[in-house]
Amino acid sequence: MDDATRDPASKLRHIEACLTRPVEYRKSAGFDAYDFVNEALPELSLGSLDLTCELAGHRLRAPLMIAPMTGGTERGRQINRRLAAAAERFGLAMGVGSQRIAIEDPTLEEWFQVRDVAPSVLLFANLGAAQLARGYGVEQARRAVAMIGADALFIHLNPLQEAVQGGNRDFRGVADRLALLCRELEREGIPVFAREVCFGMTEATARRLLECGVSGIDCSGAGGTSWARVEAHCAATARGRELGLRFGEWGIPTAESIVNVRRAAATLPLIASGGLRSGLDVAKAIALGADIGAMARPFLVKADEGEAPLYQFIEGVLEELRVCMFATGSATLLELRGKLRSVGIPATRDEAGGLA
Ligand SMILES: Cc1cc2nc3c(=O)[nH]c(=O)nc-3n(C[C@H](O)[C@H](O)[C@H](O)COP(=O)(O)O)c2cc1C
Repeated sequence: MDDATRDPASKLRHIEACLTRPVEYRKSAGFDAYDFVNEALPELSLGSLDLTCELAGHRLRAPLMIAPMTGGTERGRQINRRLAAAAERFGLAMGVGSQRIAIEDPTLEEWFQVRDVAPSVLLFANLGAAQLARGYGVEQARRAVAMIGADALFIHLNPLQEAVQGGNRDFRGVADRLALLCRELEREGIPVFAREVCFGMTEATARRLLECGVSGIDCSGAGGTSWARVEAHCAATARGRELGLRFGEWGIPTAESIVNVRRAAATLPLIASGGLRSGLDVAKAIALGADIGAMARPFLVKADEGEAPLYQFIEGVLEELRVCMFATGSATLLELRGKLRSVGIPATRDEAGGLA
């Protein structure tokens, strides 16, 4: 996200592209390769299921996160504040978008503020690995966290996006700097989570991140918003557009990405994002090993429509999750594990993608 977040105008172009252009992968996030096993005798009441869970030392009322997207502009601020108020109302977690612009221009800091409307939300600050490679360190990380009163920090890893946008194409030294950051911030009680932005993670990457000392991972995989496609739509040149489109389908599907990380780290806090579009997807992500599910573009689309559509959407997602739990006989989220069966290779989605 970072080179694009050098100036607020490019961040606005990203939002516009995500709202108006065909930016979703054609390939599936992989959840349709699984079905839940129906339980005909659940002995449960749908109304009394336990959706609560814990992440980074915080209790959430539901295993759902508003994935990092924006901030740093008037429009970004409005979207974030609407999302943050929703997170507060439903007891969800939330991340803001890359704060690099406000680290470089502190007059933009106020455009990231959401704490006044989300006093109790588990809130993640956000910086990019590309910036670590260029010399960002503990000081900038502390500033990002303090800027918004965050509880934790995301470092996003997005080499493919940086490469297609012509951003930072040198990621040497990122792991060492990440390890240093984890050590220092851990001491101050600030968990550092590493996250992809939609291209997924291998088991080996997850192992290396564990060695760096991360407190958690968002394995954000392919199957939802394709950041190569977004960059294609935002490119200033024909070559930039061609490059973005060429890599439009790049990435490890999210379902696979979850399994990869879980193989490397059985108990590490794990967020799943990338192509989750319903409560059924959230339930499948958890059944595959994630602790919570996160969505970005679906929340952006609904927040843009207004507060009521956003709240209806969240209620719908949570209702679908409850139905999955009820009809699989799962009284708690953990009981969803082991209730999936594989039904074969996921189909390629149509042009419209998962969202209208
Ligand atoms: C408009 C927009 C801006 C984003 N900006 C960031 C960002 O600044 N930092 C980050 O870590 N991820 C960012 N993301 C990536 C998302 O958090 C998420 O990983 C990705 O979009 C896949 O989720 P989705 O398919 O639900 O959209 C952004 C996503 C969107 C839609």
